[in-house]
Amino acid sequence: STARVSFTVNGTPQKLELDTRTTLLDALREHLQLTGTKKGCDQGQCGACTVIVDGRRINSCLSLAVMHEGDSITTVEGLGTPDKLHPMQAAFIRHDGYQCGYCTPGQICSAVAVLDEIKANIPSHVSADLNTPARLSGDELRERMSGNICRCGAYSNIIEAISDVAG
Ligand code: FES
Repeated sequence: STARVSFTVNGTPQKLELDTRTTLLDALREHLQLTGTKKGCDQGQCGACTVIVDGRRINSCLSLAVMHEGDSITTVEGLGTPDKLHPMQAAFIRHDGYQCGYCTPGQICSAVAVLDEIKANIPSHVSADLNTPARLSGDELRERMSGNICRCGAYSNIIEAISDVAG
């Protein structure tokens, strides 16, 4: 069966009529042509499909689009543009935080949300002092980013890029 859903993507209101089984990932890629968000495993294991929904990161392959009525969704296309990169995008470039680039949109969306989680004092398993993101440890960042897999193994540069933005 189909259902209508209205949500905002990167600041633009969207109204879609979708098969109720359509994932948010497929709605973004196939119905809105926002192909920056990638499909890796389609099973919630790789993080390539990470987007930000009302400030929190989710794996969009695990979420049905019709559950997002009224939500505000940000994809990598909404973070920055080639002329005006988001600071996290610029840091990934500066630190070579990618190789093939396939996981990068998800890594960047996740990283942006991680810094917001830290600001909001949402603990991780290895949080030390949540009020001092400047002293954020590599361990903590690695733990928080552990849902985003990079098959090229660019992890150390990814963590350097995020640390750079964290200050
Ligand atoms: Fe969603 Fe892999 S495509 S977690």
